[in-house]
Amino acid sequence: MSSHDTTGAERTSLPAYDQIDVSVLVVGAGAAGARTAIELAEHGVEDLLVLGKRNHGDAHTTWARGGINGALGTHDPEDSWAIHAADTLNEGHFLNDPGKVETVTEQMPERLRELDEWGMDFSRTDGGEIDQRFFGAQSFRRTAFAGDHTGESMLNALVDRAQELSVPYRENVMVTKLLSDGEQLYGAVGFDMDTGQFLLFNAGTVVLAAGGYAASYNRHTSRDDENNGDGPALAYYAGAELMDMEFVQFHPTGMAVDESDPEWEPWSGRLVTEAVRGEGGRLYNTAGERFMERYSPDQMELDARDVVARAIAKEIKEGRGTENGGVYLDLSHKDAAFIQERLPRMYERFQELGVDMAAEPVEVAPTAHYGMGGVAVDEHGETSVDGLFAIGETMAGVHGANRLGGNSLAETVAFGVVAGERIAERTDGPGSLPDSVVGGVAEPHLRDLSELAGCNGDHDVMDVFTAIQDVLWDHAGILRDEASMRAGLDALDDLRHKATDMSVGPVTSRSFEFAVDVGFMLTAAEAVLRGGLERTESRGAHYRTDNPETDPDWRQNIYFELADLGGMSTHTEPVGTSSQAVQDALDEGHELDYHQLE
Ligand code: FUM
Repeated sequence: MSSHDTTGAERTSLPAYDQIDVSVLVVGAGAAGARTAIELAEHGVEDLLVLGKRNHGDAHTTWARGGINGALGTHDPEDSWAIHAADTLNEGHFLNDPGKVETVTEQMPERLRELDEWGMDFSRTDGGEIDQRFFGAQSFRRTAFAGDHTGESMLNALVDRAQELSVPYRENVMVTKLLSDGEQLYGAVGFDMDTGQFLLFNAGTVVLAAGGYAASYNRHTSRDDENNGDGPALAYYAGAELMDMEFVQFHPTGMAVDESDPEWEPWSGRLVTEAVRGEGGRLYNTAGERFMERYSPDQMELDARDVVARAIAKEIKEGRGTENGGVYLDLSHKDAAFIQERLPRMYERFQELGVDMAAEPVEVAPTAHYGMGGVAVDEHGETSVDGLFAIGETMAGVHGANRLGGNSLAETVAFGVVAGERIAERTDGPGSLPDSVVGGVAEPHLRDLSELAGCNGDHDVMDVFTAIQDVLWDHAGILRDEASMRAGLDALDDLRHKATDMSVGPVTSRSFEFAVDVGFMLTAAEAVLRGGLERTESRGAHYRTDNPETDPDWRQNIYFELADLGGMSTHTEPVGTSSQAVQDALDEGHELDYHQLE
């Protein structure tokens, strides 16, 4: 690392920064970033650095609850990776990239066994095998789990493994820009969130494992300061394309609470894991009807998330919801010991709030959970910018129009391996950072960051931040139409203007972090709205009340790109075809039979 003191007279407005040279920079220290780093280290790549926005071992993965999919066949030996792929494609409404789906599903049994070897605390059957539970719209019990803290247990195992391999890690760093000329990646700029030091990374390869954009909605399951679109926006401004951004998953069961009660308010929208329904939880409206009988008599509460979320939204809209704007999720037909064993964190959380899940129902309503869209990448996770990779929730392609629960954790480790292998084959040092990129991209950006800190504008950062979230919720929510999405784009223009005039604290302040997030969120939100407008059909999580049918001609992905004049341009491309093995599994017509649960 070298230090650049740039306070000389001729460059007064350029802040000092530290330069760090490294072959591979991994941005994001959740499951995807950790698994990539492990793969690199196992292939002998030592000159790498993993950056996390939080303390070591703490990443958004820890909030993933219900499970991770892989066709182990613990209970259902007839399951196979090809049927897992077929379920993923069916529920993605065939907008998924079939090659990427196969990359994930084929690897997963091995990935699960490997996590087991590395100490992941899987729940087990009486015979000691990795247990698997039902999850929505999956033909067999395929979701492996660690109680209802699967993500935490998985990240602990990955971090331990990375530490065994001495993977270098730096915590509390936020990356704000990638350095590229649009064709080749050269590194990144960011800052140390503890010290406020600006950082310039000279890196020939950057892996974005920085999450998605679902927290750009005002009711969501993410941590508030993560999943604000960092990954997609960083890649977009580096010259990569985004894809399918209009597809945002609304998890059917976020907590519905009395928001005027300070004890409950922070829990609004937080995840009530699908595992509650996977373990037999039933949904009721205030008329006492088990309403999924009307919407999906075969798959009931375990139909795909888009179906269940829309059903709940309709019940609430038609006046059969609770005062807190939810419906009831009831597991009280199971005894406390069962719930405590299978869903310990959920049980504890509600217990602390004074609700006994074994005796009464909890209130739930849909909440933004996951962006199926993201950065367009090839089969190795590489973008069109040479040296820039995007994996995990940052990338697009695996989930199509609607993700299966349990497939996000699967994707993180599967693509971590694929990207890590690819990078290890060809990495050859930090590369040289051209003066044109330092002078034309890095330094102007460092000046911008320096000006942002302490800016005394007219608008409060959090007001702009939450206004963007409101725009997405109100204009690109579970139900959308053209007029509303157009109004949403107009509202974003206004907020973009306000974002140039915010009142921001110093680099180490939370308001500085959120001010940077505002920039990412504006990009993600614009793509969601533009994609939603362009896609004149309903498919999976994208439901247009003015175009309620699925249009077979729309079996196309929408790509978003930064146009020469700075605007966002789009184009479409048709989706590829599946292998024969997966086509055979599709033809066999497997699907979940809910009534096995009863
Ligand atoms: O409900 C859940 O536990 C979420 C899992 C997932 O989104 O994969």
